[in-house]
Amino acid sequence: MGEIIIAPSLLASDFSCLGCEARRCEQAGADWLHLDVMDGQFVPNISFGAQVIKDLRPRAKLFFDVHLMVDRPRRFLGDFIAAGADGITLHVESMDAAEITQAIREIRAAGKMAGLSVKPATPIEAVYPWVDDLDMVLVMTVEPGFGGQGFIADMLPKISALRAKFDRTIQVDGGISERTIGQAYAAGANCFVAGSAIFGSSDATQAIDNLRRAAKN
Ligand code: DX5
Ligand code: ZN
Repeated sequence: MGEIIIAPSLLASDFSCLGCEARRCEQAGADWLHLDVMDGQFVPNISFGAQVIKDLRPRAKLFFDVHLMVDRPRRFLGDFIAAGADGITLHVESMDAAEITQAIREIRAAGKMAGLSVKPATPIEAVYPWVDDLDMVLVMTVEPGFGGQGFIADMLPKISALRAKFDRTIQVDGGISERTIGQAYAAGANCFVAGSAIFGSSDATQAIDNLRRAAKN
């Protein structure tokens, strides 16, 4: 397994200053920028859409990792691709199987990374039909919708089961901190989303360094 990827979640930043916050992540040594799109339907919260991502695009060179928590996301794929997403992660619960196959194909045809995510109640086996076509699988370690929740350690076996058959990126999202990142890394994850652990700290550079170090301890 190569180097770990730290992906600050902009959801925990100051929304009145998203461009500055994106740049701050870049200067702090982040690898990716995690962009949580929520529609108030698939999850009980509303965040931002493709226009915000398009406007952020010139502000940072970071890999734009778009996490789509919306109903029937295929409708919007073209918008997010045009906005400058580098990777798009869909929820396996948000579409039927035929649509998932199509959506992954569309994302990859545009030259972007395709990810598929499972909510805590969804077994990891739900992504297995597509593993050969995916660049990333996201294992949610909180119920999607809000930042600042506690890490659900019961999700760790999903990560290890997946790692046994998937050698690409395994991302974890939710409750990642210096206290929890090591467990997720040990289980086989290599990409870590962190909202409150980074934006809740007065020094983002230090917070990212601490996460990198804690992962391997
Ligand atoms: C939750 C989002 C997460 C969230 C993580 O639905 O997908 O990306 O921002 O926040 P923390 O790191 O605070 O749990
Ligand atoms: Zn997320």
